[in-house]
Amino acid sequence: MNIKTISTTPFNDQKPGTSGLRKSVKVFQSPHYLENFVQSIFDTLQCENKTLVVGGDGRYYNRQAIQTILKMAAANGVGRMLVGQGGILSTPAASCVIRENQAFGGIVLSASHNPGGPDGDFGIKYNVTNGGPAPEKITDAIYDRTKTIDSYKILEAADLDLDRPGSFKLAMMDVEVIDPVVPYIKLMESLFDFDRIKDLLTSGKFRMCMDSLHAVTGSYAHAIFEQRLGAPAGTVQNGIPLEDFGGGHPDPNLVYAHDLVEVLYGENAPDFGAASDGDGDRNMILGRHFFVTPSDSLAVLTANAHLVPGYKDGLAGVARSMPTSAACDRVAEKLGIDCYETPTGWKFFGNLLDANKATLCGEESFGTGSNHVREKDGLWAVLFWLNILAVRGESVEQIVRTHWQTYGRNFYSRHDYEEVDAARANEMVERLRSLLPNLKGQQFGNYQVAYSDDFSYTDPVDGSVSQKQGIRIGFTDGSRIVFRLSGTGTKGATLRLYLESYEPDASKHDRDTQEALAPLIAIGEEIAQIRKFTDREAPTVIT
Ligand code: G1P
Ligand code: ZN
Repeated sequence: MNIKTISTTPFNDQKPGTSGLRKSVKVFQSPHYLENFVQSIFDTLQCENKTLVVGGDGRYYNRQAIQTILKMAAANGVGRMLVGQGGILSTPAASCVIRENQAFGGIVLSASHNPGGPDGDFGIKYNVTNGGPAPEKITDAIYDRTKTIDSYKILEAADLDLDRPGSFKLAMMDVEVIDPVVPYIKLMESLFDFDRIKDLLTSGKFRMCMDSLHAVTGSYAHAIFEQRLGAPAGTVQNGIPLEDFGGGHPDPNLVYAHDLVEVLYGENAPDFGAASDGDGDRNMILGRHFFVTPSDSLAVLTANAHLVPGYKDGLAGVARSMPTSAACDRVAEKLGIDCYETPTGWKFFGNLLDANKATLCGEESFGTGSNHVREKDGLWAVLFWLNILAVRGESVEQIVRTHWQTYGRNFYSRHDYEEVDAARANEMVERLRSLLPNLKGQQFGNYQVAYSDDFSYTDPVDGSVSQKQGIRIGFTDGSRIVFRLSGTGTKGATLRLYLESYEPDASKHDRDTQEALAPLIAIGEEIAQIRKFTDREAPTVIT
């Protein structure tokens, strides 16, 4: 077998965003595009003779990309590659496999919740030894390398058969095709009371519906809920993973998981519903006719963690991204544990988990997880909820309402303006930044500005500083507005407006969220002049 060195020219657009390099499939298919990024990983990190993991969410181009990566890894002297069968590994399972095998790192292929197929998106990111996304200093170094790269190495060899478990040789490199589901289930069994959950699911008194949105968790969900935990066949819907996710948008929210929403809000609705995204790291939790916001979900899991075997000894702390509501802060305060506020993106939780400062973490964007891996984990969140439901014997709605009575309710919503003009969106943010120093003390209707800043985070473990992570305007009554531009979109810019207010009075917990937040929404739109800069009358998606 022959190693070829192929000349290339750098691309100037390979800066990884919030969760890796994410572009349309068409861009990834352009000559040398994938290869440049992969070679930049190998050039930046010393992977010779090391073990790496590779797998992806099974979207279109996953198979081709994995064959290329394997041949490049062999040409670059990697010692051993562990590959999910069929090229499949959900993002949390990839993290689990890296950790379990003490691999040097892993290459995870996914564009998460973005649509797939020939006209959809693709993505790639590098995870480090702890199983989590590489920290910024590594992603920056990889990016710098993409700007100067002039050649890459690849082995001339036939494609490997990845569809059955087994061991292969690619030149000097060992390739092991592993079951993508088994190690993950083993980890879940070590955390949750599977016997108790099985009793619940087979009691005849409790029904659940899991919607995999034709994405990667289909195989995992069938194996866990139906085969292992005894739920009836059909519990998992849209459970066959497809390269284009059946043409859908594999994002577990009220808009894109509409099949599930119809079931849970319909007649004869089951007791519990959940969905996960393209690569299996996000989750949405529903009760019968009831939606649990991700921020509330994190707070409820934190408050009930002692009921779950893997967390019964207590939590070291909890962490949430800055735009996530402060609901979990109140639980942390009561439990007497630390609560950390990090920038958006899962990679910021890694150090806190490694240093055992936090045990649970979450984001408002349907991401929840713990120190069991270093990625957010959709099915883990579903099992966590099931474990709590099995122990408490109450409905989802009862559990959340009791939670609000105890801690007060944080009304919360996110308004997204998608695919707006990027230059104008940046102008809007620049203008907002220029207003910040003068906002304090200003009155908007009944709301007075208590503070305003562009969020900056100093990592408590390594001292690294991340600036310009979102504009926050806080009011004297504890309400908050946050503005951020998305780092994961692939078309134009996406403006996110996050809104939060706190209501201690239980008699007002039934209010409609958008109504409760209406004054703040108006203030946000006014301060940022959203209509003018986005040319939009209304948000694209309201969550
Ligand atoms: C979005 C979410 C963020 C999440 C990321 C990856 O990033 O807001 O919380 O970590 O996707 O799932 P954004 O597009 O806002 O940069
Ligand atoms: Zn995802």
